[in-house]
Amino acid sequence: MIEKIKRLHEDIKNLSAKTAEEAEALRIKYLSKKGIINALFDEFKTIPSEQKRLVGKDLNLLKNFANEKIQALKNTVSTKETGNIDIDLQLPVSGKIGSRHPLSIVRNEIIEIFNHLGFNVSEGPEIEDDWHVFSALNFPPEHPARDMQDTFFINNNPDILLRTHTSSVQVRVMDNENPPIRTISPGRVYRNEAISARAHCIFHQVEGLYIDHNVSFADLKQTLLYFAKEMFGEETKIRLRPSYFPFTEPSAEMDISCKLCGGKGCNVCKYTGWVEILGCGMVDPNVLDSNNIDSKEYTGFAFGMGIERIAMLKYGINDLRLFFENNMEFLSQFKGNL
Ligand code: PHE
Repeated sequence: MIEKIKRLHEDIKNLSAKTAEEAEALRIKYLSKKGIINALFDEFKTIPSEQKRLVGKDLNLLKNFANEKIQALKNTVSTKETGNIDIDLQLPVSGKIGSRHPLSIVRNEIIEIFNHLGFNVSEGPEIEDDWHVFSALNFPPEHPARDMQDTFFINNNPDILLRTHTSSVQVRVMDNENPPIRTISPGRVYRNEAISARAHCIFHQVEGLYIDHNVSFADLKQTLLYFAKEMFGEETKIRLRPSYFPFTEPSAEMDISCKLCGGKGCNVCKYTGWVEILGCGMVDPNVLDSNNIDSKEYTGFAFGMGIERIAMLKYGINDLRLFFENNMEFLSQFKGNL
């Protein structure tokens, strides 16, 4: 009987199965009630009792071995059938490989451009309080931007909200660092707006903040000109139009010469030759003082831009919703090395 067990052991070791059915047939052949191994257990009952100890041990080992082997065969064929077979890391790549989302590509480009000017990157939470989004930024209590129309409040609590702009990160940086401060803050922002080709309730901004001795409007303008040329090409022109933000004084909006028509006029620039890309200004002394930075000693500038807007202009995309739909045909057109 020992000989029989040895032979079976060899046979089982060499078993193979290509399909789940074949593996199941092997289980029936060897391990079912009427299978070969059970038959051996019947035979075992008839052998002389002095042999029982040795043969019994081998028989049990054989049964366990058969169980493991056949289970392993089953696992292999089932992963083969579902395609999850052992991964060969040396196989050449076939089919589609992943690529960065266009918003990530543009965000990384913006970070890189400002890195060259010595700006570091800082981040803040998307769920904020009134202080960081509004009060510390010199918003009067009755300012319309706090209105339910624009801001998503959480649980109707007027003090807990989704940030409506990345300017909140300015406040966090001023809390934690002393001048000189030179930082940009990319991140997601939320506004209660109807979704259309030009607006979304979720979008992305990059904030910039520079505070030091003698920072001037000329520094702001030169920094933004450098950015525009790096992002949109050497021939790009900028213009600043006076504007208003509670946290900057004076404030401006910056336009760049329309890249699509070269300034001649088209429907993207509404036939003006210019497109608006960001808001900016000198940090209001009230903001510096509210954040414990002495406005008699320091001045600063700040700016904020929408990443979607920059990406739309850069790539000639006319519908903002495309960024959020995860359509592979759209996304696979963008190849970024950043
Ligand atoms: N936070 C402003 C906005 O969301 C942009 C801005 C940032 C303007 C910094 C001036 C200075 O529209």
